[in-house]
Amino acid sequence: MYLECINCGRKHDISAVMNTCSCDGLLEIKYDLSKISFKLEERANTPPHVWKYRELLPIRGSPITLMEGGTPLYRCKRLGEECGIKELYVKHEGMNPTGSFKDRGMTVGVSRALELGINTVACASTGNTSASMAIYAAKAGLAALVLLPSGYVALGKIAQALMHGATVLSIRGNFDKALTLIQKVCSEQGFYLLNSVNPYRLEGQKTIAFETVDQLNGRSRTNTPDRVILPVGNAGNISAIYKGYREFHELGVIESVPMMTGIQASGSAPITHAIETGAAAIEPVAHPETVATAIRIGDPINAPKALRAIRESHGLATSVTDEEILKAQKDLARLEGIGVEPASAASIAGLRKLSHAGAIDGDEVVVCIATGHLLKDPETVIRSSHPPVEVSADLNSLYDAIFHPQST
Ligand code: F0G
Repeated sequence: MYLECINCGRKHDISAVMNTCSCDGLLEIKYDLSKISFKLEERANTPPHVWKYRELLPIRGSPITLMEGGTPLYRCKRLGEECGIKELYVKHEGMNPTGSFKDRGMTVGVSRALELGINTVACASTGNTSASMAIYAAKAGLAALVLLPSGYVALGKIAQALMHGATVLSIRGNFDKALTLIQKVCSEQGFYLLNSVNPYRLEGQKTIAFETVDQLNGRSRTNTPDRVILPVGNAGNISAIYKGYREFHELGVIESVPMMTGIQASGSAPITHAIETGAAAIEPVAHPETVATAIRIGDPINAPKALRAIRESHGLATSVTDEEILKAQKDLARLEGIGVEPASAASIAGLRKLSHAGAIDGDEVVVCIATGHLLKDPETVIRSSHPPVEVSADLNSLYDAIFHPQST
């Protein structure tokens, strides 16, 4: 194993504690795949979870694990029909221990912090990263420091970070500002940074690709989706999932790599803009806004990896409005029984938009990644729903409310 810069190609020893190259380029963990044999059939009886794929993960000792991964891949016929897609699946990452895909990255990242003997882990977060880091730090006995953008983090996520014992600070500024600050704190104090600029995080998250292949195997006409659609914020997850598919491709487990399709909220869409204009790099959005606070990010740190993933895989990017996001959240909940937070629903809103525009073929096997659970953000649900009707505790009033709702 070694670290490789995606910008200048320089290789660094795997023992180096660094998140970016001396040229400032992002780093990727590389394996000698010619020495690894991986056959799905050989482990058909092992249920999917992150550490099922451990020879493709960078931790050799016992990891800190809370049984992350192994999330359901649901076939969504009703929603598929509505979006014009014959074979649509949703991978519900909200079914991880803290209710988001971040747990896949944190089991690896916190295990790495322990290997290095570092006793404080830290991150900036729109919420889910902080919740996830807090539980793994608790399990590992490490101190956890979290910086949040004040006023823009969903309630469930803050509750998790607090309950699991992290030091939680809300800054008067957005996520991009918080990330700049925490990077400085980590380099000055020797804390271990667990944002997705850390290549160990992305190694755990790439198992979403491995699991999807495992779960489609024998179930679909192909074990590889034609297209993977997911919300993009700091742009780590799309980069990680693409890396997972590329590795399986190189190992001969799959025959093709899916078209990676990133969806952003229209008020925070620098990557979509770069893809649409063909620009080599993103132009940061100074004041990102969206109801999907998880992806309210204007200057995604993993943009170079994400642009490469989308372009190399012949994928797409688009942006969706807050109304489209909230409608998709409701549709997924009511047509399929899958409850997700607004950011996750961006993938469905994006699918619908691209499919109706004719950019996605109805015969493609499509997998949408639902990144976080509905209960992360109950306040947005309450704001966008009719409140429960209060009735007197007697049968007549109850029947009145059930059969003549407008009179109550
Ligand atoms: N969906 C959810 C629910 C998220 O929490 C995030 C990111 C994303 C999508 C986007 O993933 O950043 O890898 O492109 N949340 C981060 C956080 C930023 O701090 O929890 P990405």
